[in-house]
Formats: sequence, structure tokens, C-alpha cells
Amino acid sequence: MATEKALAAKTVAVINQKGGVGKTTSTVNIGAGLSRLGARVLLIDLDPQANLTAAVGQNAGGRCIADLFQGGLTWEELLARINDNSLAVVPSSVRLASAEVDFATVPSREGLLRKHLAAVSDRFDFILIDCPPALGFLTINALVAASGVLLPVLPEFLSLQGVSGIAEVIRVIGKRFNPGLDITGILINRFDRRKSLHREVQQRLKERFDSRVFEQTVRDNVAVAEAPGYGLDIFTYRPDSVGAKDYQAVCQEFIRRCSRQ
Ligand SMILES: Nc1ncnc2c1ncn2[C@@H]1O[C@H](COP(=O)(O)OP(=O)(O)OP(=O)(O)O)[C@@H](O)[C@H]1O
Ligand SMILES: [Mg+2]
Repeated sequence: MATEKALAAKTVAVINQKGGVGKTTSTVNIGAGLSRLGARVLLIDLDPQANLTAAVGQNAGGRCIADLFQGGLTWEELLARINDNSLAVVPSSVRLASAEVDFATVPSREGLLRKHLAAVSDRFDFILIDCPPALGFLTINALVAASGVLLPVLPEFLSLQGVSGIAEVIRVIGKRFNPGLDITGILINRFDRRKSLHREVQQRLKERFDSRVFEQTVRDNVAVAEAPGYGLDIFTYRPDSVGAKDYQAVCQEFIRRCSRQ
């Protein structure tokens, strides 16, 4: 695996083993923001919860990335265009939950996603992979396929410990399977600069992870929480919201960070 060349598209795994930190929210809104800036973007739902699939208004009961892994569907059958601009999604469903068991005896199973993505990566500028809240088979597949990692975190003290653990996993997976792998950025979500706890956690993250921490944060914003209920990204749902403003700036910083990696 280690000698394979990088995928044509900038491929970023969105990970955190802690649940509910904003992985799916950030994948959807950064993906939508990048596509509005003219990039060709592929979103991959690699979580059996299929939250991303629902958040972009797709039906989780139908096609599923598990069908690609099992050889039952081709890319053409699987890819769903979200709208007329350059955003596409690979849906997930609860059927993906058994992938770890299904592929238990397959050699190089950690490279399954990377192998499949190699066939389509030149059609996209960015591929964003929304991972489940666990560091198991699916997240490892994302880390082997990716060249960067986006780590959304909440401004809580326990996040500091969590990020250190994840950084170690990234180092180990990188060394073993994917030497080019690096942290694109740690994104603090639901940040309130009026709260000293939030500022202190931000400060400690910067002390420990330096420039890997995004300068831009995302504020708590009800429109961000409402948008997936309508199958919409924040820019379509409430273009004037603080959520749209924050994610717009996150996208610009994301592009700058990717171009440096
Ligand atoms: N900035 C925000 N403002 C308001 N609500 C938010 C914000 N970010 C995320 N949320 C809400 O918090 C909840 C968790 O977010 P999300 O589903 O993106 O987390 P996740 O890390 O993908 O969770 P999981 O680990 O279960 O996949 C969702 O209901 C989402 O709408
Ligand atoms: Mg999620």
C-alpha cells in the first residue's frame, strides 16, 4: 500500500471517535461551500448511521457504498448528483454496519476504499469522507485513502485528550499504510468566544497542535442544526446565517491548508 501514488483529488477523512462533534455537519457544509467556489466535490458517507446521506436529501434505503465494496454496483450506479453544481454523494445505509465482518478475511482490506476511489478520483478536486464515531475498520479505510484529516472537536477539556489519541492513530496508520497522511486541520465547532472555557480549550489545542488548529471556528447556530432536516446545506437553507458565514470562512481556510499539504 505504502508505495501507491496519492489519489488525484485532495482526499480528506473527517474523523473523531467521539460522537456528535460535527463531523457530518462539517462534511456537508464544507463540501457544499467548496462546490460553490467552483470545485468538483465528492462526499462519501462512510457511516452506517447514514446521517450525511439524509442531510443532503438522499434516500438511505437504496444504494449504499457497501454495494460498491461487494461488487454489486458500479460507480455510475452509485453516484448521486445533489444539484446542478459540482457536488456528488456516495450514500450509505445501515447495511454498511456489517462491512467489518463481511471483509474480515479479505487481504489488504484496509485499502478497499482507496482502491475503489482510484477509479474516480480524477473526476473531482476534493473528496470528503464522513466517518462513523469509532476508529474501526471504516475509519481506517478512510485514513488509508486520504492525504489529509479534518478533525472537528467541541470546545471541552476532554477533547484535548481525544485529539491526542487520534493524532497517535493517524501517525500509526500513516507509518504503516499511508506515509503522506497529515492533519489538514482541527476545527473547533460550537465555539463561543464569550466563554472562558472555550477560549482556554482553544489555547491549549494551539499550544499542543500549533498551526494545525483552524483559526476560524464555527459558532453554535440553530440554522446549522435545522438545515439537515430539510436535506439542505447551510448556504442553501440560510445563506445569511452566522453558520453560513462561519462555514464560508472555514472553506477558504480549508483550501489554503490543502494547498500547503
Ligand atoms: N455549529 C453548530 N450549531 C448548532 N448545531 C450543530 C452545530 N454543529 C453540529 N450541530 C448539531 O449537533 C448534532 C451533531 O452534529 P453531527 O451529526 O454533525 O455530529 P457527528 O460528529 O457527525 O456525529 P456522529 O458521531 O453521530 O456521526 C447534530 O444535530 C447537528 O445538527
Ligand atoms: Mg456523523
